[in-house]
Amino acid sequence: MANTILVGAQWGDEGKGKIIDVLTEQAEIVVRTQGGNNAGHTVYIGKDKYVLHLIPSGILRRGKVCVIGNGVVIDPVHLVNHEIDGLLRLGVEVTPENLRVAETAHVVFPWHRELDGQREVRKGKNGLGTTKRGIGPTYGDKAARVGLRVVDLVNAQRFPAKLRERLEENNEVLKALGAQPLDYQKILEDYTRAADRLRPFVSNTVVYLHEATRRGANILFEGAQGTFLDIDHGTYPFVTSSNTTAGGACTGSGVPPNRMDRVVGVLKAYTTRVGGGPLPTENDELGDLLHGMGREFGATTGRARRCGWFDAVSTRHAAMVNGIDELAITNVDGLDSLASIKVCTGYRLDGSELQYVPADCELLARCEPIYQEFPGWQTPTDAITRWEDLPVNCRHYLLTVAQLTGTRLTIVSVGPAREQTMFL
Ligand code: GDP
Ligand code: IMO
Ligand code: MG
Repeated sequence: MANTILVGAQWGDEGKGKIIDVLTEQAEIVVRTQGGNNAGHTVYIGKDKYVLHLIPSGILRRGKVCVIGNGVVIDPVHLVNHEIDGLLRLGVEVTPENLRVAETAHVVFPWHRELDGQREVRKGKNGLGTTKRGIGPTYGDKAARVGLRVVDLVNAQRFPAKLRERLEENNEVLKALGAQPLDYQKILEDYTRAADRLRPFVSNTVVYLHEATRRGANILFEGAQGTFLDIDHGTYPFVTSSNTTAGGACTGSGVPPNRMDRVVGVLKAYTTRVGGGPLPTENDELGDLLHGMGREFGATTGRARRCGWFDAVSTRHAAMVNGIDELAITNVDGLDSLASIKVCTGYRLDGSELQYVPADCELLARCEPIYQEFPGWQTPTDAITRWEDLPVNCRHYLLTVAQLTGTRLTIVSVGPAREQTMFL
């Protein structure tokens, strides 16, 4: 399969978890390289539903090694108590043989979550709508060079003093914001217990991945969030705090660009976004239709996702900044009942037509989509297993959005299960 970077090409929740699970069959190692447990990647195996937050979706296939890379921010209590124990309860094997955690990943603490929440409260209706998992404040500490890393967490000698120092400063900040200070002893106990469980999983994952590339292992890099949530390339400030685009896979793993072979972009056949910020093609009727089908509720927070038509201006931008070679389009079945489907092919702003996404998100919020309409197929697609058997209008729609995006369509998904996937 060669080394593959998989990225979300919209605003997250494109169906990356499902496509990762399908592609993992051909991979030996699956790596998360950015984000934290703000991610929610859903995988169905038969009737069983799994939602992965920090652990790569590859964990669900036996014999694959999963890596939580250096670029990820880790809430160790959540990782151990919810994710590892949750998977063990469901009968999924999670051992130091199939899960490796980078010693240089940064650690999320309770004050990060508290600060995340406090900042949102202060922003009021202009809030970002974060997942309140402490992601922004943890990456903030990393950039300010005051963060604690997994190496600090698992070092029982030095952790208590480092924790005390960080907590003292952060409690002052919390008090100044009118929030309750946090208790040292409670955090020390919770984090020491999590550290004791995690210690056998922790290693130098950069060296491990280099050795793997040298012997020719196929590595799959599992992106989290999506292109327009990227801290540099997204709709700032309505973004997350990491590089969600393809470059993040290199910095977040230590595997250099010249060892990467291809980039796969995952798209929904329409657009969704959860949280605040501009979404040019937002359409409440389409949202009502999808929500009425029980779809498009957040995998991490349960919030209803905002929905809109496919936006080819933004996906073209995503193809450009990620260098997308191949496209996987998911949730095609979501459009099955529509008589007519719109695709945004340009933006209108102050009387001019734009063919690119303006960097200033206030301008993007004022853009009016220019639509092209396509006839729907009004046929269920969820039981179709071959591309040739898809309705002709459906194939035409998918090939057109791939062409407008400027890349090659190779995977089509018509349902959440592994079997509901076709390859072109
Ligand atoms: P991720 O964050 O990109 O992994 O995506 P999420 O798991 O948050 O959200 C995608 C949702 O779409 C999940 O509920 C998936 O089970 C579901 N899904 C993925 N592909 C398809 C598809 O082709 N059809 C349907 N009906 N659901 C899909
Ligand atoms: P996956 O990997 C969709 C959004 C939040 C909010 C913004 C910032 O499942 O696609 P944060 O908690 O990261 O500081 O929130 O980013 N967000 C996501 N939206 N999918 C995700 O992950 C997301 N992770 C964060 O809703 O708007
Ligand atoms: Mg998700």
